[in-house]
Amino acid sequence: MLNKIEEAGSAKATFFELLGGELDGAIKIRALVEAFYDVMDTDPKAAPIRAMHAADLSSAREKLFMFLVGWTGGPQLYIERYGHPMLRKRHLPFAIDESARDQWMYCMIRAMHLQGMDDALMTKLAEQLYGVADFMRNQ
Ligand code: HEM
Repeated sequence: MLNKIEEAGSAKATFFELLGGELDGAIKIRALVEAFYDVMDTDPKAAPIRAMHAADLSSAREKLFMFLVGWTGGPQLYIERYGHPMLRKRHLPFAIDESARDQWMYCMIRAMHLQGMDDALMTKLAEQLYGVADFMRNQ
């Protein structure tokens, strides 16, 4: 399993495949995203980034789900619907500093634990997502 995980992101095994691929990958990502926003919505540690979001998180839930399915190597749901994500540009209206980045990662890692994700997969996925979260920083 570890070797397969080390290959994640290469042509050999994508994160989407490691999460269950066609049969299960989207279900796992949906559950992860639900847990992620549930943590953001309720954990006081994430209150500053929660406040940047709309009161109703359903659109954020749907968009992050669609984005992550494609980003992990599954069908490009977000791009098919909304075009190129231009994620950094879309995040420019929000003041994202190191603390905001770390709150986002905190919610994601909590969500991964709540989902009982395999440790090695969790570490790899968190590492890759940290790169994206750090790229969102605009201050
Ligand atoms: C670094 C800290 C981050 C903060 C504070 C943040 C905050 C936000 C906020 C406030 C929105 C608008 C949501 C709404 O409509 O209410 C948003 C949208 C979104 N974020 Fe983030 N975000 C962060 C990192 C990330 C990362 C790492 C990803 C992807 C891995 C991501 C993916 C998205 C997507 C796909 C959307 C929807 C974009 C759209 O189509 O409008 N964000 N984010």
